Amino acid sequence: MPIKFPFSKNKKETINRTLGLDYDHIPKHVAIIMDGNGRWAKNRGMPRIAGHKEGMGVVKKIVRHASDLGVQILTLYAFSTENWKRPKNEVDFLMKLPVDFLGTYLPELIDRNVQVQTIGDVSLLPAHTQKAIKDAIEKTSDNDGLILNFALNYGSRYEMVHAVKEIAENVEKGVISASDVTEEMFTSHLYTSKLLEPDLLIRTSGEQRLSNFLLWQLAYSEFWFTEVFWPDFDESHFEKALYDYQNRKRRYGGI
Ligand code: FPP
Repeated sequence: MPIKFPFSKNKKETINRTLGLDYDHIPKHVAIIMDGNGRWAKNRGMPRIAGHKEGMGVVKKIVRHASDLGVQILTLYAFSTENWKRPKNEVDFLMKLPVDFLGTYLPELIDRNVQVQTIGDVSLLPAHTQKAIKDAIEKTSDNDGLILNFALNYGSRYEMVHAVKEIAENVEKGVISASDVTEEMFTSHLYTSKLLEPDLLIRTSGEQRLSNFLLWQLAYSEFWFTEVFWPDFDESHFEKALYDYQNRKRRYGGI
């Protein structure tokens, strides 16, 4: 059965729909801290999980748009190592979101040539969540379009400590010596070892902090903040972020 898209799969049409963006310089890797679901729901007198449900719909919209625009990697902070502290009903709901999302949307992801990946320790997620993710990763592994990278049970400090332990073990075993350790080697021990570093970090909801997200990888990324809560975030906000990114000068410490 053909799948209906709210946006055209034809990139040119998408381009004509928008103004101002330089389509030859779309950031390759965009990372997003999707924040404000709880406050969005509270403002409407709804339970927090209603905000997460709405937020899942926004994930669909932004994945479609990012893939239309030619973004290569979209990393979404879906669940942090600290989020386990939330009430059980909320954690359970958040763990079900990837199952619902992939359950309904995987055929479209496959059709769009999207490759699903994850960062974080997924081995600690409930079995049904792991199964949905594993299935999506397997079924999209040959795709070479947008990499949709979910950060799940992800914490940047944990990731870095884990990398340090692996390197220390190699030193202990005599495989390498301490003087062999370089930035590149450290990077190769991170979950993101095969990915480009993010060009642009977006955080919604007015908070301006990193919350243990990609601390090493964001060293030279451009940051873009908006007051908009994630459930209200849409394609126009995404394009504005990309537009602002294109109008910044990245100097990487130079002049
Ligand atoms: C932070 O908002 C958001 C989260 C911890 C969860 C984000 C998850 C989604 C947007 C859906 C993910 C979808 C898939 C497919 C995995 P918050 O709850 O901290 O909001 P608040 O700061 O207003 O309380």
